[in-house]
Amino acid sequence: MESASDPNGPLFYKGWYHFFYQYNPHAAVWGDIVWGHAVSKDLIHWLHLPLAMVADHTYDKSGVWTGSATFLPDGQIVMLYTGSNAQAVQVQNLAYPADHSDPLLINWIKYSGNPVLVPPPGILSKDFRDPTTAWLTSEGKWRFAIGSKVNKTGVALVYDTKDFINYEKLDGFLRAVDGTGMWECVDFFPVSKTGENGLDTSVNTPDVKHVMKVSLDDDRHDYYTVGTYHEKNVTFVPDDPTIDVGIGLRYDYGVYYAAKTFYDQNKNRRVLWGWIGESDSEAADLQKGWASVQSIPRTVLLDKKTGTHLLQWPVQEIDSLRLNSYEFNHVSIQAGSVVPLEVGPATQLDIIAEFKIEKEALEKATGSNVTFSCSSSGGAKERGALGPFGLLVLADDSLSEQTPVYFYIAKGSDGNVKTFFCNDQSRSSVASDVNKQIYGSMVPVLKGENLSLRVLVDHSIIESFAQGGRTVITSRVYPTRAIYGAAKLFLFNNATEAGVSASLKIWQMNSAFIRPYPNLDNKS
Ligand code: FRU
Repeated sequence: MESASDPNGPLFYKGWYHFFYQYNPHAAVWGDIVWGHAVSKDLIHWLHLPLAMVADHTYDKSGVWTGSATFLPDGQIVMLYTGSNAQAVQVQNLAYPADHSDPLLINWIKYSGNPVLVPPPGILSKDFRDPTTAWLTSEGKWRFAIGSKVNKTGVALVYDTKDFINYEKLDGFLRAVDGTGMWECVDFFPVSKTGENGLDTSVNTPDVKHVMKVSLDDDRHDYYTVGTYHEKNVTFVPDDPTIDVGIGLRYDYGVYYAAKTFYDQNKNRRVLWGWIGESDSEAADLQKGWASVQSIPRTVLLDKKTGTHLLQWPVQEIDSLRLNSYEFNHVSIQAGSVVPLEVGPATQLDIIAEFKIEKEALEKATGSNVTFSCSSSGGAKERGALGPFGLLVLADDSLSEQTPVYFYIAKGSDGNVKTFFCNDQSRSSVASDVNKQIYGSMVPVLKGENLSLRVLVDHSIIESFAQGGRTVITSRVYPTRAIYGAAKLFLFNNATEAGVSASLKIWQMNSAFIRPYPNLDNKS
């Protein structure tokens, strides 16, 4: 029985990617939290290591909670993490590798002076958690943020330190947004305005924008905003206040929470990890004995075309799992039809698809002033003039189970079109104790762009990326019939007035190896 949650302190060290995570070794539900630890050479195949930290001190007796890693200039690593102490007060603690010459970083030492920070005046004892990776100020101090709230306003507190032992709390907040509630797992990092590489967390030149991400405890989603970091005022100002932190864009419009990025100095990229929970019942999790998975790591770049969005994309290493491929060119999908795609068992797939909708239909369609939203719509079965159309993944032959991943184009009375990207789980399973919501959001489609999609299907996990990763949706679905050899893939077009043509490249995907830590005592 076990369950995992937040990614913690991801980093690359001496040839290995390290992934720490919130882990309950005792039950398939949250509780008894310690730090799990796994390593990989390629972010795909993993080796589990012994627990990195357990709840063995008064300052983390009630749980070794979320934290982040910072590399010091001499290559040493410090880990700041939240301890829920013996009285369940949230405090911050310092830990570091026992042996920096060990590439696997198996043993961790907790600093003898812990806790290093306790909730400051005005902050409640259970509202002080999840320190970020620290970044350097121009004066050479380390600076980091900690999530909190004041009444119902979500806030990020800021601290400076020279040595990770003594800390100075700075006045004000990095950002505060009314009505957003407790900010968990704050992440704060630079993205290049011009380049294609990720940036170290301390980079702060005129060529960067900053991204602030918060996980909203109240609605369990991760929200981000692009803006400007003012080092002197210790503030982050969003470019567009109408999409401020916690009220605007989300990393993912499905199940995805407590995400954290790190700068991968091995490949000069910023990599994002997120926790994908279950969307079946807790009873089902207890019965199967485990809960939760981690997303395929994604690279994150600023979308230079919109300036507002990030582009999230599965790390290129995922391509190493590709097996045989199938290509379909200009498949025509008439209005109101379903077209099967023969790709063999459709449970582990990487799908790249491009859709074109008939131009004349787009022009001819009459607009309306009804506002569309994926979640309040009737899903993929509700027909509009210009959509929905897309893929039916994890579907059985008779379509009694299917998860549509699709676009919906809505034309306004002013003649302008808006494109939405949705996942409809309402018919994903004949089982009743599973989430059947319809997920999704608007996706910007710029002049000259086709509608494009990438979908990674892995049994119960569907990670889908529209327009190069501008809008992303992760679904957990639990089909009972559309499984293994019976799982199929289809194209569909449920528009009433427009034909659609689709071109696709699809790969069967290999399984990744995830190996347990070898029990050397039993070695024969
Ligand atoms: C987010 C979170 C963090 C906390 C940790 C405890 O999922 O609640 O705020 O540190 O999980 O497991």
